[in-house]
Amino acid sequence: MVNIAMLGYGVVGSGVAELILRNKYRFKDELNEELVLSKILVKNIGRHANNKNSGLLTEDIDDIFEERVDIIVEAMGGLDPSYEYVKMALNMKKHVVTANKDLIAEYGYELLRLARKNGVTIHFEASVGGGIPILKSINECLVGNQIKSIKSILNGTTNFILSKMNRNGMSYGNALKLAQDLGFAEANPDSDVKGYDAARKLSILSTIAYNRRVNWKDINIEGIMEIDSDDFRYAKLKKCNIKLLGMSKICNDDIYASVMPVMVKEDSVLGKIENEYNAILVEGDAVGDVMFSGKGAGMFPTASAVFGDIADIIEHKKEKSIVFSKEKARINGNWSLKSKWFMRIKTDDRIKVIESIPLNFKSCYILSNDFSGNKNEVAAFVSSDNENAVNDYIEKIKQKKYAESVKKLLVLDK
Ligand code: HSE
Repeated sequence: MVNIAMLGYGVVGSGVAELILRNKYRFKDELNEELVLSKILVKNIGRHANNKNSGLLTEDIDDIFEERVDIIVEAMGGLDPSYEYVKMALNMKKHVVTANKDLIAEYGYELLRLARKNGVTIHFEASVGGGIPILKSINECLVGNQIKSIKSILNGTTNFILSKMNRNGMSYGNALKLAQDLGFAEANPDSDVKGYDAARKLSILSTIAYNRRVNWKDINIEGIMEIDSDDFRYAKLKKCNIKLLGMSKICNDDIYASVMPVMVKEDSVLGKIENEYNAILVEGDAVGDVMFSGKGAGMFPTASAVFGDIADIIEHKKEKSIVFSKEKARINGNWSLKSKWFMRIKTDDRIKVIESIPLNFKSCYILSNDFSGNKNEVAAFVSSDNENAVNDYIEKIKQKKYAESVKKLLVLDK
């Protein structure tokens, strides 16, 4: 018998409890093991009174660490008290499975070492990409490659919001509310819309892919709060869509890493990813481009990944566990490839702004459309050798009395 205890019983926890039940006899023939969910830690038992698992609920953490428990599933999210509980579990020689990207992005290195010291494992496939089996794929199937770059959509909530704004003309606020109702958003959705959640996931992914520790706080992060319906209208002129992309790439000794809204071709692999779906495009030196996509948030997609980790523990796949390198990556947040950029410049003198653009960029396309309605902005696509040149222009123009604010978006149109 394999005894599983769980911390937390929200959206993810409920899905995991259900999958454990559905797969109770999954390992019966092969390993003569039966799965039992023995305890679930909740904050307030009263709030789950009529639940079918109400007999398993406890408010006492000591019940979780009982001797008969083999695996602890952490499905609480956040750092406090998850961090302390997971450390306690590992020190008590329990295997841990977690979906908690905050925890792994912040303390992954320390927890992996602690697990190893105690002869147990900590698995976290569900922490990145929800139901998509991406960490195992990079760590095992693609191990013969040097990973050169990652382009990804790693946050279901923001992809859902951007999809609804683009396809249904829904307002940002209504789309966010719907994502919250559907259980995709974090307890504090700032984490989603400000890009922190995607940055934490990108740091975990990149740490494994490049075998160097990428600290999520070093990543250049921009959220989606400034994106409005006019941005989508401008994007459509170029047959583009707008996506919050997490990108990282080997640049000599550094790693480029950023999370930001990007215009991508509507018919490109990432441009077609809608709603709560996530996608990860990995470029390996041997395999070339490999694309992974699937539901990145929600009860059962996340539970699916958690259950895969439980299965690995039961099948004793410890030797293939992920290891975080000792070496810390040096992060560079500047896009250094020759690319197109889109700019919207709010101004009370359009002529002066229009004149300044060709003087600063070798190639540019100034739009005759002004979707702002007030005739108070200039929108343009420009080509630039690197992001620095675009930033220099923005700094220069912002110092002029006639330019109020500038918004810029990278355009990936190939
Ligand atoms: N809030 C996260 C998202 C949940 O929207 O992707 C899954 O990590």
